[in-house]
Amino acid sequence: MSDTIFEKESKYFFHTFHRLPLEIDRGEGVYLYSKEGKRYLDFFSGLAVNPLGYNHPSVNEAIEKQIHRYIHLSNYYVQEKTVELAERILSATGYQRIFFSNSGTEAVEGALKIVRKWGHGSKRTTILNLTNSFHGRTMGALSLTERPKYRDGYDPFLPNTNSVTFNDVGDLRAKVNEQTLGLILEFIQGEGGINVVSSEFALELKSLKEKYGFLLIADEIQSGIGRTGKFFGFEQYDIRPDIVVIAKAIGGGLPLGAILGNEKVAEVLTYGTHGTTFGGNPVACAAGCAVMEEIVNKGLMKRAGVIGGYIKSKAMELQKQFPAVIKEVRGFGCMLGIDLHREGQSIVDELMNRGVLINCTNVTVLRLLPPYIVTEQQCDQLMFELHSILKSLK
Ligand SMILES: Cc1ncc(COP(=O)(O)O)c(C=O)c1O
Repeated sequence: MSDTIFEKESKYFFHTFHRLPLEIDRGEGVYLYSKEGKRYLDFFSGLAVNPLGYNHPSVNEAIEKQIHRYIHLSNYYVQEKTVELAERILSATGYQRIFFSNSGTEAVEGALKIVRKWGHGSKRTTILNLTNSFHGRTMGALSLTERPKYRDGYDPFLPNTNSVTFNDVGDLRAKVNEQTLGLILEFIQGEGGINVVSSEFALELKSLKEKYGFLLIADEIQSGIGRTGKFFGFEQYDIRPDIVVIAKAIGGGLPLGAILGNEKVAEVLTYGTHGTTFGGNPVACAAGCAVMEEIVNKGLMKRAGVIGGYIKSKAMELQKQFPAVIKEVRGFGCMLGIDLHREGQSIVDELMNRGVLINCTNVTVLRLLPPYIVTEQQCDQLMFELHSILKSLK
């Protein structure tokens, strides 16, 4: 008998991913359908990549139109959809310049290069990050990723980096000085367990940035493109980063990332000093234009905030009913974490048995990243199943 697809996967691939024991046939809206025909309600949306759900007609149509024109030309050419997407993103966000990459980690790498070049030859040398951060898997991004789970065995890392303890205002004050070149952070940490930067921390960051003039880099790869109900997660605070990196949702499911910069860094990169073969691919950018149209112009971002608020209120009701199991509910919009007093994976597995997909991150945090089109009834179904599982734990 020939190997199953799972056996082949295990035989052929480096063992980097623990795949789910589930083979998906197709997706439609908020649902995924397995090869066996079982339907799954997906509150994970391809790890924050599919805000419009699966098989969205606008995204499909945009992709289809573009592939009949050209799929790839190279960055020697100006390309209509790439320029259109740049214009849409810059006018929605107020940033001045953009560089398209293929992924989040590449956007972080490019941002680090901008930061280094901006401070080149000055006394500014140190790039700070926050503890528990995740910025990607390439060596630069990994050097600014703090969690040992991702770093172990890969040192030596980039020099002149240091970590500030998450939400520790005293540590921030102690580590920021004249030598600080930049500070990169997720205002809402994703992989780290939906940890939200406190308003006191953001306020101190703003005042230190004004005092020392270092570059602030927001990693909006998971929290951006409307997921929190605002275009960027940092808009939940009164602060304006100099550089923003995005990816995931912007490509409508195709690989796409970007670096956005303000006037302070607009002239740092000059011809030939940074580049990419595929970044800004016209098909991915055509899909991105459709995403921007739905999220910004057709009100889906607002909806992410509203439906996310609904999910959060239901999760907090659950917390009241099960205080011995649920420690805290955190996050904004469609980026929520239910932090448990125990490990969460068995709950995730049981939800999958019951036809609902979520994920567990940082051991104890049930992470919800639904598409913004999710309905109240679908949220109720998740809460019903979660309630029934938590009840059985008692
Ligand atoms: C906050 C954050 N930064 C960076 C990355 C890396 O992005 P990519 O996997 O596209 O390289 C991720 C991916 O999960 C992320 O969540």
